Amino acid sequence: MKKFAHKHLLGLEGMTREEIEFVLDTAVTFKEVLERPIKKVPTLRGLTIVNLFYEPSTRTRISFELAQKRLSADTVNFSSSGSSVKKGETLRDTVRNLEAMKIDMVVVRHASSGVPYFLTRCLESSIINAGDGAHEHPTQGLLDIYTIREKYGKVEGLRVVIVGDVKHSRVARSNIWGLKAMGASVSVCAPSTLLPAEIEKMGVEVFTDLNKALWGADVVNVLRLQLERQERGFLPTLREYSRLFGITRERLTLLNKNYTIMHPGPINRGVEITPEVADSPESVILAQVTNGVAVRMAVLYLLSGQQEEAVA
Ligand code: CP
Repeated sequence: MKKFAHKHLLGLEGMTREEIEFVLDTAVTFKEVLERPIKKVPTLRGLTIVNLFYEPSTRTRISFELAQKRLSADTVNFSSSGSSVKKGETLRDTVRNLEAMKIDMVVVRHASSGVPYFLTRCLESSIINAGDGAHEHPTQGLLDIYTIREKYGKVEGLRVVIVGDVKHSRVARSNIWGLKAMGASVSVCAPSTLLPAEIEKMGVEVFTDLNKALWGADVVNVLRLQLERQERGFLPTLREYSRLFGITRERLTLLNKNYTIMHPGPINRGVEITPEVADSPESVILAQVTNGVAVRMAVLYLLSGQQEEAVA
C-alpha cells in the first residue's frame, strides 16, 4: 500500500503524522540529489506541469520550477498579468484550455481561498496548492517542518510560537495543522485585531503579549506583516506594531537556549523582525528556502504516483 495515497495537495489539515513524515523522509533523499554536482534525476520525465500564479511570488514559484526541472519534468509558467485573464477569461476557461494542451499537474497560487479545491472539480490533473488566500500554503508548512526537524532531529515536544498577522496568514494555518500533527506545542501571538476568531479551536495557545509568548519557546516563526492591510485599520501604526510585536535581539533572551528564528519571506526588515535577528546565526530563513526545493521535489514525486519506483 502507498504511504502517501493522494492525488492532490490542497492543505495540511487532516494530514497524518505518518504522511508528513513520509514526505519529509522523501525530501531528505531529494536534498541529497541537490547536493550532487549534477542536480538532476529523470524521475518525472514525460510529465508536464503548469505553474499557475494569479498572485506575485518569488520563492514558491522559482522553487517549484527548480524542483520540476531537477526532476526532468516539462514545466510551463503562467502568470495572470500577461495572459488572457486581462481580456476577461474566467479561471475555469483558462484551466480547461491549459488542460486541453495535455498537462499532468497544476501548481496554483490565488488570492481567493478555495481555488485549488475548485480546480479539482474542473480538471483531471493533480492540483498542488501554492497558497490560496488566507487558507493554506501546504508546501511552506512542510518545508518549515522539514527545517525544524533537520535542526533538532525531531518535532515532537518542541515549543513553536507563530508571531504576526495570523488572521491573514495561510502560512500560519498550514504550520499549525502540520506542527500539531507532528506533536509540537504551538502558540500564536498577535494584536487582537490580527487574530482570527476562534483560533484556539485549532489547538493553539493564544497570546497578545509577545514577552509571555516567547518565554521558553524553541522556535519563533515570524510572519510577514501584510502592509497592504495597514490602511484597513488593523493596526494603529507600524512603529507601534514593531515596538510591541517586532522580534528584536533583546527579546531573544526569553527563548530557550538552542532557539531558532524562521520567516517564510518576504521580510519587512525593521518591521516584524530586525535585520540583526533575520541575519543572525540562529536564523534558518535561507535554509527554509533551500529545503523548499527538496520538499517540493518530494511532493511532485509522490503525487505523480511513482512512489514505488527508485528515485535515481
Ligand atoms: N513564502 C512565500 O510564499 O514566498 P513567495 O510569496 O515569494 O512565494
